[in-house]
Amino acid sequence: MTAQTRSDRESALVETARRVLPAGGFGNVPLEIIVAEGRAGRVWDVSGNEYVDLLLGSGPMFVGHAHPEVLEAVREQVGRGTTFFANSEPGIRLAAAIVDAVPCAEQVRFVSSGTEADAYAMRLVRAFRGREKILKFEGGYHGMSDYSLMSLAPKRPGNFPRAIPDSPGIPRSVADEMLIAPFNDAEAAVALIEAHKDELAGVIVEPFQRLIAPKPGFLQALRRATQAHGIPLIFDEVVTGFRFAYGGAQEYFGVTPDVCTLGKVIGGGFPLAAIAGRADIMALFDKGAVGEDRFLTQIGTLSGNPVAATAGLKCLEILRRPGAYEQVFATGGAMMEGLSGMLREAGVAGQVIGCPVMFDVIFATGEVTDYRATLRADAAMGRRFNAAVRAHGVLKSDGKCYVGLCHTEADVADALGAFRAGVGAVG
Ligand SMILES: Cc1ncc(COP(=O)(O)O)c(C=O)c1O
Repeated sequence: MTAQTRSDRESALVETARRVLPAGGFGNVPLEIIVAEGRAGRVWDVSGNEYVDLLLGSGPMFVGHAHPEVLEAVREQVGRGTTFFANSEPGIRLAAAIVDAVPCAEQVRFVSSGTEADAYAMRLVRAFRGREKILKFEGGYHGMSDYSLMSLAPKRPGNFPRAIPDSPGIPRSVADEMLIAPFNDAEAAVALIEAHKDELAGVIVEPFQRLIAPKPGFLQALRRATQAHGIPLIFDEVVTGFRFAYGGAQEYFGVTPDVCTLGKVIGGGFPLAAIAGRADIMALFDKGAVGEDRFLTQIGTLSGNPVAATAGLKCLEILRRPGAYEQVFATGGAMMEGLSGMLREAGVAGQVIGCPVMFDVIFATGEVTDYRATLRADAAMGRRFNAAVRAHGVLKSDGKCYVGLCHTEADVADALGAFRAGVGAVG
């Protein structure tokens, strides 16, 4: 594939964006590519350049853009109305599908984004336990709430368990309510849980933190330590849900939390996310069950939106078909292996991390098992690699390649061609 060209129309849009949007964008990916359309595993920009899409809308488009079956279902629903605020059949059916699939899910509450789901999950366990502190892991991403933006990406990591705010504008008191532990250090995390067991409301973790796999036994250790003291364990499965396996990372790793959050795939490309978990904890959303004092008020204009739920339901139906996960893991595996081989051949100090459904290259040597190890990465090499890969027809974010059921052998071949250009740019 050849380098991309920019039309006058796209240049004008970039200019307008710079004028009317802070930093010239929506705040998501720092790209000057204006996407015009997507089909399956490809997108086209306004200039007509074609890309293999390894961004996949940051994960929701796991079955591909404009999937004909999803489109048909959505069109039919849109013709019957787009939002009601009241209960609707697609949302009820989606909740039932989640309960069938996800081990910890006995009940489901819908919201519109992963950020909301995580913020409510933390509030839910605080209300359930009648305690306030939440333990999270350094480098763990749980959306953009005040509580989540603690030690997500500290430039100068502090001493555990002190939380470091990731953004101005967060009240100082919030940091005091969060405890930070090192990911993949079971001993340290368990020691913190033990030491703070009487003030801990819950523990929240990405079961696969960004692109870092949990060490064998790590999630099990968290499960044992929290269970021993009746402290709810929350798995943030916004990314991993229905992606690592139909039942998510909890099925994949065989560890069942008390509560999980879901997003991305379950909305099929529309704004929908969920909190799912044990019925006795979810009961706090039911005034009739728990009474006025324990009731957790929760309302959202678009919660359980019927169009989003219809899209999500159709995606889950597609993912239930035999061989779906085998296929996407094989596709991603081929990309990872190909890229690893190129780095090796070129003698570049980098490695491919993640798993077949989401991976990236990190220009650092040595095992990457926690956030601090990622700080060793050569950021300038990362920038050169990403720029070359994009210029050669792959759309990716700075931190991750998402692989979907939609990606074909031709997509793999073209992605590997762009990766070769990326490796050439850093070699
Ligand atoms: C693990 C995790 N949790 C939460 C979120 C936030 O989800 P949203 O962007 O829908 O608010 C994300 C988004 O990427 C995520 O990766």
